[in-house]
Amino acid sequence: MSRAVRAAVAALVVSLSAHVAAANSLRDVAAARGFFVGAAVDSTALAKESKYRTTLGREFNVCVGENAFKFENIHPAPGMYAFGPADSIVTFAETKGMRVRGHTLVWYQQLPAWVRNGSFTRDEAIALLREHITTVVSHFRGKIWAWDVVNEAVADDGSGLRTTSFWYQKIGADYVDLAFQIAHEVDPDAKLYYNDYGAEGDGAKSDAVFELVRGLQQRGVPIDGVGWQMHVRSGFRITDAHRANADRIAALGLRLTVTELDVRVVLPATAEKLAVQAESYRDIIAFCAAHPAFDAVLTWGFTDKHSWIPRFFKGEGAALPFDAKYKRKPAYKAMKTELARALNRRP
Ligand code: XIL
Repeated sequence: MSRAVRAAVAALVVSLSAHVAAANSLRDVAAARGFFVGAAVDSTALAKESKYRTTLGREFNVCVGENAFKFENIHPAPGMYAFGPADSIVTFAETKGMRVRGHTLVWYQQLPAWVRNGSFTRDEAIALLREHITTVVSHFRGKIWAWDVVNEAVADDGSGLRTTSFWYQKIGADYVDLAFQIAHEVDPDAKLYYNDYGAEGDGAKSDAVFELVRGLQQRGVPIDGVGWQMHVRSGFRITDAHRANADRIAALGLRLTVTELDVRVVLPATAEKLAVQAESYRDIIAFCAAHPAFDAVLTWGFTDKHSWIPRFFKGEGAALPFDAKYKRKPAYKAMKTELARALNRRP
């Protein structure tokens, strides 16, 4: 080979590997195998920070509003809907070729005071539920891949539904059925999920969630999947209990998504702690990307600059794959490596 040819070949190799590295975002790795990797979006950061937008659009092929679709934000006063922030997320996703999950239609938290403190008969509460779901789902019809129709309806002790919920108190247990039925009538193409935390492995709450979704199915209520939030502590590992629970949900014919993953560490975050955290991310991704019932994994945010953890868990934080300066953390690398490996094992 002449020196000129050798130089040309070397240049080609350099440019090819640069191309591969550039193509090697989380979303590229996932999309190559028809999988979805996503993040919750803070609509204020989306509007204000170009680094936020660049990272989000480069790395993820699905997103979800962290707060913008919640009742108190999207329906702040009777008959008044504020779609702006949620629309901005959907528009961003459209321009970047990302899918959107809608979170959430029916939840006992983040309800506005006019709902929480209002006096409603059962019929009035049903009318409110129907108006809310109909208005929101029809506004986004055709644009939402999957809705978290009902969030956190099951009591933490697994005794059944959370009886302190506004919806349970005003309507009764059938508010869950109603919510899914209405959402399906309005957008028959959207996938409908039940979403909860602390119901991923074994235990009374996992059993109660399983019974809830099985009951919905038996009654012919349209449900497509179950969301596992997975707000976990560093050191977390998938166990046989998670496998068994995923398998029994899958055996019902339901899909699964990890909807709100974050792995919090006790602050201050050191290199050692972030290495331990990365192994939890690795383990979770390895499991759900290889399991045929999982469609997607979404983290709850993506940069430690915008994360709910420090506000809600005192002394903990640094829970996401990018640090507060948008630098990739060991958790990011573990996610990418494991996505590629696990998706190759997918049947
Ligand atoms: C959290 C948001 O991240 C916070 O910004 C907000 O103040 C409270 O809600 N489970 C859920 C999410 O289903 O909607 C919650 O999001 C986190 C726990």
